[in-house]
Amino acid sequence: MLEIQEQETANSAIPQAQDTHPLVELTHVEKHFGHLHVLKDINLTVNKGEVLVVVGPSGSGKSTMCRTINRLETIDSGDIRIDGNPLPQEGKELAALRAEVGMVFQSFNLFANKTILENVTLAPIKVRHMPKDEAENLAMDLLARVGVDSQAEKMPAQLSGGQQQRVAIARALAMKPKVMLFDEPTSALDPEMVNEVLDVMTELAHEGMTMICVTHEMGFARNVADRVVFMADGKILESGTPDEFFEHPKTDRAKDFLSKILTH
Ligand SMILES: Nc1ncnc2c1ncn2[C@@H]1O[C@H](COP(=O)(O)OP(=O)(O)OP(=O)(O)O)[C@@H](O)[C@H]1O
Ligand SMILES: [Mg+2]
Repeated sequence: MLEIQEQETANSAIPQAQDTHPLVELTHVEKHFGHLHVLKDINLTVNKGEVLVVVGPSGSGKSTMCRTINRLETIDSGDIRIDGNPLPQEGKELAALRAEVGMVFQSFNLFANKTILENVTLAPIKVRHMPKDEAENLAMDLLARVGVDSQAEKMPAQLSGGQQQRVAIARALAMKPKVMLFDEPTSALDPEMVNEVLDVMTELAHEGMTMICVTHEMGFARNVADRVVFMADGKILESGTPDEFFEHPKTDRAKDFLSKILTH
């Protein structure tokens, strides 16, 4: 008896609860914009620590899918869960959800009239009610992690695009999110700045962050993704390892997409 109890205790020390459900789970998600059917029966699970890359032609619904995950867009039907909990409709619960789901967009969206440091401390102070000095310490740690701590007192316009995007990542991390969504974070950058942002994302992935990344950076997809999802016309047509997707695409749509992007 004692042995069994001990065994149970030992087992319960393993974080199995986390493993019983995915961190992000979309089930039968449907979304229209007027007559346009933009998400068609989307079923997707992302496990803790997994790095998912979403690719697909323009207009296929990649951004819309990302935006539904932190409820920047509502859905018509279906179910979205973060860490087992359905998305809240509004109010405090919604604010709490947004804090759990960090998002980095193509445009950096920093507050232009606030310093870099203030950009990162704002949400922890306002939403998490963190004392200012604690928020500043956290912000400086994160700015150092993304390599822009020397810019802390500057205004966003004084930074390069790559630096601003790294600040945007630090700002999202300051809320200690459970999952990070990236929607084409490098596509507005000058080419020489793309790698500095991808390096930060790669490091985050190696540290175990759960990430959903919409990107055209196929090197990143091949080297960093655990799984690649291919979307076209509002549907997920393929989901597999980078090797499966890049070397053995199953659908003509994916083959066509790959032939277009990989010829350059
Ligand atoms: N707010 C909106 N109102 C109406 N239609 C929209 C809205 N947002 C997106 N759409 C349409 O929904 C479809 C999916 O758009 P979405 O931005 O999700 O595609 P995407 O795969 O991210 O494309 P891209 O690669 O160009 O970023 C497109 O046809 C787009 O025009
Ligand atoms: Mg998009």
